Amino acid sequence: MEKVRWGLLSTANINRRVIPAIRQSARGELTAVASRSQESADSYAQHWDIPQTFASYEAMLASDAVDAVYISLPNHLHADWTVRALQAGKHVLCEKPFALTLADVDRMIAAANDTRLVLAEAFMYRHHPQMKLVEAFVRDGRLGDISLIQSVFNFQFKSRDNIRLIPEYGGGSLWDVGIYPVSFAQCVMGGPPDWVFGFQHLGASGVDEFFAGQLHYGNGRVAQISSSFLTPFHTRSVVVGTKGRLRMSRPFTNVEESEMVFYPDSGEPEYVDIPEEPLYLGEIEDMHTAILDGRPTYLTLAETRNHVRTVLALYESAAAGKPVFL
Ligand SMILES: NC(=O)c1ccc[n+]([C@@H]2O[C@H](COP(=O)([O-])OP(=O)(O)OC[C@H]3O[C@@H](n4cnc5c(N)ncnc54)[C@H](OP(=O)(O)O)[C@@H]3O)[C@@H](O)[C@H]2O)c1
Repeated sequence: MEKVRWGLLSTANINRRVIPAIRQSARGELTAVASRSQESADSYAQHWDIPQTFASYEAMLASDAVDAVYISLPNHLHADWTVRALQAGKHVLCEKPFALTLADVDRMIAAANDTRLVLAEAFMYRHHPQMKLVEAFVRDGRLGDISLIQSVFNFQFKSRDNIRLIPEYGGGSLWDVGIYPVSFAQCVMGGPPDWVFGFQHLGASGVDEFFAGQLHYGNGRVAQISSSFLTPFHTRSVVVGTKGRLRMSRPFTNVEESEMVFYPDSGEPEYVDIPEEPLYLGEIEDMHTAILDGRPTYLTLAETRNHVRTVLALYESAAAGKPVFL
């Protein structure tokens, strides 16, 4: 196999970001899209110039036309379709949040192990040069000992008719966008927190439309994260250490507009150059390297499992009004 032939499992909104990335990568091609109806698959394929269509997800999984699928379904469907895709012999890139229970995450990981196929969580920002720079700052000790992370992801809907507001679909701001600060903190701190405290404000549909969490690590280190559907688009992350702090204005999305500044303990702030790279390209190229060269994925399934574990602990804490130990 020289190129990975991709199939889109659904016509989700987010596909519009991933399609150009597949086409930008020299070792991938977009060959098919599956939707719950032929009509929808056909009109989508025509718009995006995709050669083959399927009137059901099952039909695409049964076909030899694709090697890998991108799963961009509502959150509650990620686990079942990932397992089905793996069992049908397809490599899988599955959107975040990977799944809504640890039992489901474990089922997905077991299916990948059993089939020896590649499975990864689609956390695009983790692959971008900006995040690699953050990791280098931490690894090289330029920030000293990290004591605090503050990280936020807020946005507002254009319409209230959205899968993110449906409780049984895994709706809620923490599952949707709060998981970015959670994963950011995990990456910088080098693992999941020891214990967490969460606060949530539930909207009319019953999902959290605002979430604030305090995540505690060893040696008094803390991450403060928040997510919201109630306030205008805003993201930022700050990592504070004994030798200085690093601030990003767009850590997760719209990274081309991001300003990254290192404030050392003394002296002038340093404006860090972020190499330009399309935001979604890294996760696709990483899949290609894993599938075609047999290399491990950059984001491990152990890290993915801890993202879900931390979110579940935060929700448990918010519901109980008590700290939860992981
Ligand atoms: N990484 C990122 O940057 C990013 C950004 C946005 C979203 N996401 C993730 O991507 C996933 C999709 O989000 P989205 O906003 O793109 O979703 P969306 O536009 O609402 O699309 C979801 C798709 O799932 C399919 N589907 C199957 N069963 C469904 C059901 N019962 N109800 C609704 N849709 C159903 C539909 O495709 P068919 O009609 O074609 O079958 C639909 O188009 C979520 O897990 C989200 O967290 C990631």
